[in-house]
Amino acid sequence: MQEKVETLIAKLVEEVDYPKAAELFAKLSGGKRLRARLILTIAPEAPEAPLLGAIVELIHAASLLHDDVIDEAMLRRGVPSVNATHGSKVAIMLGDILYSKAFSSLTAFDPAISRAVAESVTRLSIGEMMDVEMAETFNTDREQYLKMLYLKTATLIEAAAFSAALLAGKDAQSYATYGKNLGLAFQIVDDILDITADEATLGKPSLNDFVEGKTTLPYIDLYDALDVPGRERLRNSHARPIDEAEKKWIRSRMDEHGVIERSYAFARSLCDEATAAVGNDLPLHAIIESVLKRSN
Ligand code: FPP
Ligand code: MG
Repeated sequence: MQEKVETLIAKLVEEVDYPKAAELFAKLSGGKRLRARLILTIAPEAPEAPLLGAIVELIHAASLLHDDVIDEAMLRRGVPSVNATHGSKVAIMLGDILYSKAFSSLTAFDPAISRAVAESVTRLSIGEMMDVEMAETFNTDREQYLKMLYLKTATLIEAAAFSAALLAGKDAQSYATYGKNLGLAFQIVDDILDITADEATLGKPSLNDFVEGKTTLPYIDLYDALDVPGRERLRNSHARPIDEAEKKWIRSRMDEHGVIERSYAFARSLCDEATAAVGNDLPLHAIIESVLKRSN
């Protein structure tokens, strides 16, 4: 089934009928294909599920192309980003080609599905805008952070789960709850790995979020736990290149205050809510576990 998604992704890109786009797309690393896997797991018998998976993965790929331009990221999944190798103009246009192609293919679906996916992309874009805005200051507002996370990452996963449930004739609202919580947990684990994983595993510099100005959940919790001089020091390191000694200081303060464990516990509680929403749909429990246990 997963191969069917890959074949359909290649077919959609081929249909764009612009060899340069297909050539650039072929160089992208496909990633985990979490969204397509989720759709196929929720609606394994639905004939339209692989196409929906391919569409959602194209939208996701487009959003990452744009995100790397916005973040000025030189690496994506361990390989040079398109903006690094071909410049921002090419990366933006390739993203536009992919997501407009995804949207035209989406018109073949039931309006409840095409609306859910299309609206989620509006939210995705609002989330990205909030992320950029929030990185301009040292954000310590947990609720604001979680709202941005929901919009930026969870909303497309939520729409994927909702739509797959409609295809399968399952309770769409429960599956949307599952998708939302899975998406939030996925991003929180991502934020944790940015701090705990080594650079080779990450395929990008460690503590990169903080250097980019993003105070993710562990930083917000650390800030809460620190004394006044500690807070001052953390603020001074924010949104600028930091050396190994400073990285070590941040990591050891995080150890001392158990903030990584707290973020994991929060991700775990979101996952528990997700599994509760889908009852005994066991393959979905396995996806949750793989998200919580992932190391890259
Ligand atoms: C990665 O965040 C970014 C996203 C999940 C969403 C990006 C969304 C847009 C650019 C909106 C435009 C949408 C389309 C369809 C063109 P991150 O920077 O925290 O994660 P990273 O470490 O993987 O870069
Ligand atoms: Mg980014």
